[in-house]
This record gives sequence, structure tokens and C-alpha cells, in this order.
Amino acid sequence: MDSQMDRDLLILSFHQIIPMSSSSYNFFHFCFLLIISTNCFAKNTFQPKTLFLAVRKDPSTLQYITQIYQRTPLVPVKLAIHLGGESLWVDCEKGYKSSTYKPARCNSRQCDYVKSTACGQCDGKQRPGCNKNSCINVVGNPATETLMVGGEIAEDVLSIRSVNGSVPGPVVTVPKFIFSCAESFLTERLGKGVKGMVGFGQHRPASLAAQFASVFRFSRKFAICLSSSTERNGVIFIGHSPYFFSLAFDASRDLIYTPIITYPNYIYFNRDSPEYYIQVSSVKINGRNLPLNKTLLTLDLENDSHGTRISTAVPYTLLEASIYSVVSKAFVNAMPKDVHTVPAVQPFKTCFDSSAIGMSRLGYNAPEINLVLHRPNVYWTITGANSLVKVSDDVVCLAFVEGIQTLGQAIVIGGYQMQDNLVEFDLARKRIGFSNSLFFRQTTCSNHNYA
Ligand SMILES: *[C@@H]1O[C@H](CO)[C@@H](O)[C@H](O)[C@H]1NC(C)=O
Ligand SMILES: *[C@@H]1O[C@H](CO)[C@@H](O)[C@H](O)[C@H]1NC(C)=O
Ligand SMILES: *[C@@H]1O[C@H](CO)[C@@H](O)[C@H](O)[C@H]1NC(C)=O
Repeated sequence: MDSQMDRDLLILSFHQIIPMSSSSYNFFHFCFLLIISTNCFAKNTFQPKTLFLAVRKDPSTLQYITQIYQRTPLVPVKLAIHLGGESLWVDCEKGYKSSTYKPARCNSRQCDYVKSTACGQCDGKQRPGCNKNSCINVVGNPATETLMVGGEIAEDVLSIRSVNGSVPGPVVTVPKFIFSCAESFLTERLGKGVKGMVGFGQHRPASLAAQFASVFRFSRKFAICLSSSTERNGVIFIGHSPYFFSLAFDASRDLIYTPIITYPNYIYFNRDSPEYYIQVSSVKINGRNLPLNKTLLTLDLENDSHGTRISTAVPYTLLEASIYSVVSKAFVNAMPKDVHTVPAVQPFKTCFDSSAIGMSRLGYNAPEINLVLHRPNVYWTITGANSLVKVSDDVVCLAFVEGIQTLGQAIVIGGYQMQDNLVEFDLARKRIGFSNSLFFRQTTCSNHNYA
């Protein structure tokens, strides 16, 4: 916590923040300007309906990594996925070379667009990420729990593949994609060669989905399908469904929805939080309701605690200690009697001898966990593929981790539980859709022809 404070102070004095007058923000005005003045579709008369990113789990950090093409000339840039992230940020301190890099001058429409209220005066050698009189934004890395004001906002060329039915379509280029620059230290604990993060946060016009939606005029919507394999790509669709998997199966038809909970959060200067919160009302194992503390399950809007958040920055779902204890006991009790528990394997606390655990097309044979959402008949079903993780040849563990009390939400749904599920974030309609395991449909998140 102390080192985080030091960093913030360091950056704040480095940039000498000057408050800007809060200028009125007009989405449609900006969009109009963008399309007319920047010739958004210069390289494509073609207007895509859906874009995609290939996503792969990094075996060492368990982060989900994608690759975009950026700058002039275009270079591949590896980025970690951050669902609740503000914007796309990259390390501009080391190796950023581009003839089309343009910092956003204070009070410009770009600053307005990202609602930046801070003007930076970087006095060092002028370079991408360090310019006088450019506005700055919040940038963060959940792997080190760093969140700071100080990323210079800039524009540069960005390229991404589009989707044509169930195969890749043409590459589309956004000449003036808005992103933030960070110093190299912010990439600490990101995987090898990973240069930044791509934010998909809600209520953030600079987040990837919001920016593409405004440039290409499609709905503010994206869907994540994480592969369980570190060798095969999952996919993030940005824009309209259908979301096809092999063979011509449209997983968007299976989605069941729950509302996204919105609230203003002091960490973000009382702006609406970019993170994704949902209501988990209860948890069932093999159909039986578990006795959980309702206070813990209800998001505390004052203190950003309790409740449930979804995060790709967490490899395994975190459960507050008392919730973990109840879930783990009920899960062990619901296991067949010939399955024995064995000593814990970090970071897990509940592990089993796997020799007596059978397999089916839904993964390991395990008690069914249901996260009951905003209504009793709406639930997310977690089967063996997402509830048990293999840690050695003869040991599997309950793939949930006991959370630290001070760490915000009581439940943080993590990457492992999302794997081979399609999860759609429909920002326009303020709802999240779940397909449940694609194994029920005899397919997986890597079973596609996109990448
Ligand atoms: C999409 O695919 C169809 C059939 O494969 C093809 O005819 C069409 O030209 C493609 N569209 C684009 C924009 O690539
Ligand atoms: C439920 O959790 C809240 C918040 O941690 C705590 O204050 C309260 O005592 C708990 N209630 C019970 C019955 O354990
Ligand atoms: C937020 O935390 C403060 C201090 O711990 C507490 O007094 C207050 O009741 C909390 N708010 C809610 C809604 O629980």
C-alpha cells in the first residue's frame, strides 16, 4: 500500500496536475467530428458489425493476453485483458516509436471525450508519454494493485480483425484510436513481453468496446470466451452477435441475463465505477441452498465492499473467508463417499485424490454449483470443468480461493470459472449474459476459425 502511495505521489509531482474546467461532454458531437474529420474508414469502405481479439492464457501468470497492431509502422503489441479497466494503456517509456503518435492537448476534444479533468506538464525529455500541456488519465494494473493518475492521453493508429460470419473478415484500421501512456514500471508482474493492458470497463468512453462502438457505430457490447487451454486461443467479440463457434453454433442464443449494478465510486473521483458488479443472491450445491451471510452478498455502495464483481484479473474465483468455508464444506459433503480429501496445495485449501473422480463431457464429475443471481430462476451453473482444477497427476482442488477480508468484494468471479463459458457484457442494456459451459453444447471457447 505504501509503495503504491509513493508511486502516486511521484507521478503526481512529475506531471503537476492542473485541474481543467469541466467541459460539457457530448458523445454525438464527438462522434460526428471523429467521422468527418479523421476519416475513420480511410482504409476500409467496409463497415464491420463485429470485431474480434484472440486471447490466450499465459501459463506463468495465468493472465489472459491478446495482441493488437498499433502505430506507424504497425507493430504487434501484447496486452493483458482487464475487464474493469479504464482504457487501453501501453508502456510508452521504452520502445514506443510511431510517426502518427499525437498527445491530446489540454482542453481538446480528446480530453473531453475521455472526461479527463487533469492537465499534465511533463518536464522531462519530450517523447511519447511525456509532453507539455497534455491531458492525463487514470491507469492501473490490478496485478500489482496500482491505480494512478498520470497516463498521458494520446491518439495513434490501431488495427483489428473483423468477423465475417464464422471466419475472420478484413482488418479494419482506426487512425486515431485514443489510449493512455504509462511508464515501464506499471507493466510489473505482467507476463513476458506484455506491454500494457486493454480495458473493457463500463462508463468509460475510451474503453475498447465503447470506442469501437462509436467509431463503427455498432452497439456497445462485447463477449468474452476464455479458453481453458494455454495452447489454443479463446476469443473476445466486440459488437453485434451472432458469436459463432464450430460448427455454425451461435452461442449468443444460449445467453441468460442479469443486470449490471452501477454506482459512483470515490476511487474514481466519484465517477461510476468501470468494474462489473452483479447480484449473487445465494449459492446452491446440488440444488441445496447454502446458509450464507446476506450482508456479505449485498454490494455495499458506500464502501466498495461486499457483493460480487467479475474480473479477468483474478485467476480463480475469490470467496470471502466465511463464504469459502460454507461452500467448501458443502462441496466436500456432496462429493461421493469414495473420494477422499488430501492435504491442501497452494493457493487452494480443499483438494481431493482424483483417482476416484470420474470424467464426463462436462469435465470432472463434481457436485453442481449454482450461483443464484438477481432472481431465483436465473443462475450460473458451475460444473466440474470449472469447479475442479488439476494440480498434479493424482490431485485436483476446488478451484476457488479464500479471499483476503480487505480485498473489496465478498465474491470475485475469476477467469477459471469463465473458461469455456461465453460471457456477454451488453453495456447499452446494462446487463451481463452467461451461456453456461459450452461443454453442454459439445463445444469450447477455442473451437472456432477466427485465430
Ligand atoms: C464474407 O464472406 C462471404 C462468403 O464467404 C464473402 O462472399 C464476402 O465477400 C465476405 N465479406 C467480406 C466483407 O469480406
Ligand atoms: C454478516 O457479515 C457482516 C459484515 O461482515 C457482519 O457485520 C455480520 O456480523 C455478519 N452476520 C452474521 C450473522 O454473521
Ligand atoms: C461503510 O463503512 C463505515 C465505516 O466502517 C460504516 O460505518 C458504514 O456503515 C458502512 N456502510 C454501509 C452501507 O455498510
